[in-house]
Amino acid sequence: MGSDIHPGDRLTPAAQGVAVLFVVSAYTLSRGALARLEAAALASVPGAVRLIRLEETGPDLLTTLDQMRAEGHRRIRVQPFGFPFPESLLAWLPGVLAHWRARGNTDTEVSLGPDPGRDAAALQAFATVALAGEARPVEGTRPSLGKPGWTLPPDFDFHLLVCTGPRCAIHGAAAFLQMLKAELAAAGLTERCLITRTGCIYPCNKGPVLTLYPQGGWYRLPDLAATRRFVREVLAGGGVAEELKFHTSGAPRATHPPQQEKTS
Ligand code: FES
Repeated sequence: MGSDIHPGDRLTPAAQGVAVLFVVSAYTLSRGALARLEAAALASVPGAVRLIRLEETGPDLLTTLDQMRAEGHRRIRVQPFGFPFPESLLAWLPGVLAHWRARGNTDTEVSLGPDPGRDAAALQAFATVALAGEARPVEGTRPSLGKPGWTLPPDFDFHLLVCTGPRCAIHGAAAFLQMLKAELAAAGLTERCLITRTGCIYPCNKGPVLTLYPQGGWYRLPDLAATRRFVREVLAGGGVAEELKFHTSGAPRATHPPQQEKTS
């Protein structure tokens, strides 16, 4: 680790034999916006560069590290990318990266780059670039605080709050959400369900997790079999699937250490 990049180094990561993995944290990000970030990241330095989003879409962090190692990279710099980058993730990432190394990857050096949001010059440059663009006048735009249809809740029977936070993502939340939607469609339940993607709802270690309302059940659905059973037994059949449920809203919780506030 001591041979990694230092702020004063003039060599590029590629020249030092370091592959770069940019990580973005953004709950709402279109595919187009993600593609633009990826293009910028790839253009920023020569050599092996990848970019992933830590929430919901695409390969998760651990899978990507596995892939980079399989490609032969033995020195990887994970670089937070974007303003602001959540401080809770900056605190979480070192342990995750150490976990990845400890599970059979000790032949690979991994380092974590600094928070770009701490660089005053970079922030100032970003503001300067933003102000250099031409502003569009709003005169002539119809005044509105929302669309006419944004008045009533949609018609649904089940409200599913699906965590797509970064800690659930490393447990497969991205694949889970797609799997859940496919199972709902196969069971003819899509129209009866309102799916809301959420940030962290706390029991990250059980990820992927969802909560079901109005029943108030908290479920861990780690694979296709569990997801299919949840859809068929709980939603379609009106059952509970106790083996998959780990909590009910309002019920006493199991004793555990005090929780620290998470912001993502
Ligand atoms: S990230 Fe899903 S519960 Fe924390």
